[in-house]
Amino acid sequence: MTPALALRAVTKQYGTLTAVDSFSLEVARGTIFALLGPNGAGKTTIIRILTTLLRPTAGTALVEGLDVQREGKQVRQLIGVVPQENNLDRYLTCRENLVMQARLHGMRPAETARRIDELLDLVGLTGRQHDFPDTFSGGMQRRLVVARALVHHPKVLFLDEPTTGLDPQSRRAVWEYIESLKDSMTIFLTTHYMDEADSLCDRIVIMDHGRALVDGTAAQLKERMSRAHIYELQFRGGADRYEELLRSLPFIRSLQRTGETFRLCLSGEESLKPLMDAIGTGDIRKICLQEPSLEDVFIELTGREVRE
Ligand SMILES: Nc1ncnc2c1ncn2[C@@H]1O[C@H](COP(=O)(O)OP(=O)(O)OP(=O)(O)O)[C@@H](O)[C@H]1O
Ligand SMILES: [Mg+2]
Repeated sequence: MTPALALRAVTKQYGTLTAVDSFSLEVARGTIFALLGPNGAGKTTIIRILTTLLRPTAGTALVEGLDVQREGKQVRQLIGVVPQENNLDRYLTCRENLVMQARLHGMRPAETARRIDELLDLVGLTGRQHDFPDTFSGGMQRRLVVARALVHHPKVLFLDEPTTGLDPQSRRAVWEYIESLKDSMTIFLTTHYMDEADSLCDRIVIMDHGRALVDGTAAQLKERMSRAHIYELQFRGGADRYEELLRSLPFIRSLQRTGETFRLCLSGEESLKPLMDAIGTGDIRKICLQEPSLEDVFIELTGREVRE
């Protein structure tokens, strides 16, 4: 069967910078696929290539078997896109933005009205449909962009950070809707919310510097960490001092801090005793073994330093 998406050795260069580096991938129809990676990893560049907005420097990209460079027009009929930046038409009302999308895709007026009512209801914007997007909050604009991407019943939906800036209620509403679409289309999304990828996606690729690092289900990716020992460690006080100490210990593979609490990954069980010897027990409020999360896998693979 033709895969919904295929990238064959796709490279994109901006001058001397290689944003996407000979990247290959096939995504089967009906998959909810997540592409994860730190800022600047190359995720948006890949989406822009697949959605015909950017020509690759080398390689081939296919959507439903159609070449994005030679058959761009047909590809655009099949896809819905939620770009990373909201790109609504600010001179059209909320509803008119949706009507415009339907016209661009040659939908009949009768069908259009029904579809738009349904989508407005879904994203909770029925009451604001005659207002202009400039008068919307960031989250409301985001919901409108999601609705617009769905107007013409796309076969493949691209969502570049669909839930960034949404409140928890709206995020859940978008997740539930993405899940309900699962059988009718292929979904390709990027997100920085690891819990979102974990609970929503059938398959995850983590990339960095234009290349894929791992590929599998959330469970398979976490399984990679099964031999790592992750502990949550909470101090009564003096966390700054302990942070310095913890960072100097060679058997701590990674360390994340939230307030007085640390999440640390030891290279093995045998490191627990030297850890306790180094910090002493006086200031410890709590220490417990944790299940590895997708975020642990992400940090382990892509490091701690902040990008760009
Ligand atoms: N138009 C451009 N000109 C030059 N360099 C660019 C351009 N667009 C992107 N880049 C560079 O390409 C690399 C990949 O960018 P891209 O936007 O694909 O990253 P990303 O994974 O989507 O990151 P983020 O999580 O921040 O959205 C970055 O180093 C970025 O600076
Ligand atoms: Mg991006």
